[in-house]
Amino acid sequence: MGVTAKLKLAVFISGRGSNMVAINEACKAAGFPAEISVILSNNPNAGGLAYAKEHGIATEVVNHKDFDSRETFEAQILQRLESHDFDLIVLAGFMRILTASFVENFPKNSMINIHPSLLPDYKGLNTHARAIADGQKEGGCSVHYVIPDLDSGQVILQKRVPILEGDTAESLEKRVLEQEHHAYSEAIRMIAASKGVQ
Ligand code: GRF
Repeated sequence: MGVTAKLKLAVFISGRGSNMVAINEACKAAGFPAEISVILSNNPNAGGLAYAKEHGIATEVVNHKDFDSRETFEAQILQRLESHDFDLIVLAGFMRILTASFVENFPKNSMINIHPSLLPDYKGLNTHARAIADGQKEGGCSVHYVIPDLDSGQVILQKRVPILEGDTAESLEKRVLEQEHHAYSEAIRMIAASKGVQ
């Protein structure tokens, strides 16, 4: 017998939020072991915020431009999160680097990220263009635990796609993004199961 309450997610976004939408759609399915408690964005114009409001999901906006340091920005995030109940932070296209002290503020393995490459290859930005330039035959995405080193925590799962003749960064991004939308909910299901949440 597992815990019956669902795993509660705090999803951090910066932009269009298509991974967050895919997660929320998965959460709506009967028996999915997680639900979104709050969506936090550093960008007040993030497309994903409109979706959150339409779907009655709590939102928090902490604009990094309003702060003169990463530390004060992150302190404000922590303060805003205090009024929300969550078990797992899910970085879904969150484009701010988090400090070690922010990451270590939470218990081990309570923050995950999705990265558009087959880690440990192509950490950082412009992953698809770099993979094509290197003549790689395969690309993909990785869901991993977040540790202070960027894109370096333990990989939870990966999805692979072929890189085709004539692919551009845009065409490859589209193929990988489709897989991201499956990968994140699968990873969340695995984490819930490992915690005994059904
Ligand atoms: C995704 O490609 C994700 O892998 C990367 O940023 C992008 C976010 O897209 N970290 P979206 O905002 O979820 O649509």
